[in-house]
Amino acid sequence: MPLPSQVRIIDVGPRDGLQNEKQPVPAATKIALVHRLQAAGLKEIEVTSYVSPKWVPQMADNHEVMAGITRQAGVRYSVLTPNLKGWEAAAQDRPDEIVVFGAASEAFSQKNINCSIAESIERFAPVVEAALAAGVAVRGAMSCTVGCPYEGEVAPERVAYLAGLMKGIGVQRVDVADTIGVGTPTKVQRAIEATLQHFDVDQISGHFHDTYGQALANTLAALELGVWNYQSSIAGLGGCPYAKGATGNVATEDLVFMLHGMGIETGIDLDRLVDAGAFISDFLGRKPNSRTAVALLNKRAG
Ligand code: HMG
Ligand code: MG
Repeated sequence: MPLPSQVRIIDVGPRDGLQNEKQPVPAATKIALVHRLQAAGLKEIEVTSYVSPKWVPQMADNHEVMAGITRQAGVRYSVLTPNLKGWEAAAQDRPDEIVVFGAASEAFSQKNINCSIAESIERFAPVVEAALAAGVAVRGAMSCTVGCPYEGEVAPERVAYLAGLMKGIGVQRVDVADTIGVGTPTKVQRAIEATLQHFDVDQISGHFHDTYGQALANTLAALELGVWNYQSSIAGLGGCPYAKGATGNVATEDLVFMLHGMGIETGIDLDRLVDAGAFISDFLGRKPNSRTAVALLNKRAG
């Protein structure tokens, strides 16, 4: 199969990235990051989540962040909503897309959202219904599609099962997430093939954490199956507070460098992207967790 000629990237840095930061990040900084991402050409940005502030304090400023963004036409702003309470809060801020998030492993579902897989689907169903009725798009994140921090390896059958449940309640597209970055290319392909039993390739995105340095290889493996939607995190920020030891998503800078080098279009300006990554990394007091960003910043410094 020929590789896709273009790729759509959702930058999940403001949400997946910053949810994991211990130090408080002011809403103004999050808003400035979103503005820099859209200035760099990102057409999809995962901005925040409407979850319990006791569970994830960093996302407690969701309303302030969403209200502060100057929206750009053609950019899709998505947010996480685990239940009806989350949807009702999110709806006030008019996101373009909401994300219900489930897991292919029971133990992770319990740790992350405090319910079983079956219960999560029961909670998501009215959320999906309400969002679609309000004209808001619905994505489903599927965590632990290759490995789970509590259960170890996850079989593709578990992924197919979850994808089928998501499809059954009206979820329009899904993310195949390697939450703890233990996936390797063939395992990730098996998880995607399992998802393809229920979703069209255009409705599947890859969400690969880079904990073990496999995310770009996994992206190439997914490209080989025709997947052309990916999630990545500016400056490689991120992790999930309920997946111990998991580090950030693949850095958007690294992903864009690879794709452009392969002649695959993203619509993203790599220089401006590096600026966005440097901005948030400066704030956090560290270097971007991106080889490409560090290389380009060193080159600029001469
Ligand atoms: P629960 O305790 O089972 O919920 O938590 P509950 O309905 O029993 O309510 C308990 C309390 O939470 C109540 O408050 C509710 O009002 C409140 P209290 O009376 O104790 O003061 N509450 C809420 N508050 C704000 N927003 C809400 C909400 N719902 C209830 N939506 C819940 C269930 C899902 C809320 C909780 O487990 C939670 O917030 N979990 C956080 C999960 C999370 O954000 N994880 C990180 C994101 S997922 C991720 O990173 C993975 C991903 O990147 C893909 C990948 O890499 O795998 C997407
Ligand atoms: Mg994630």
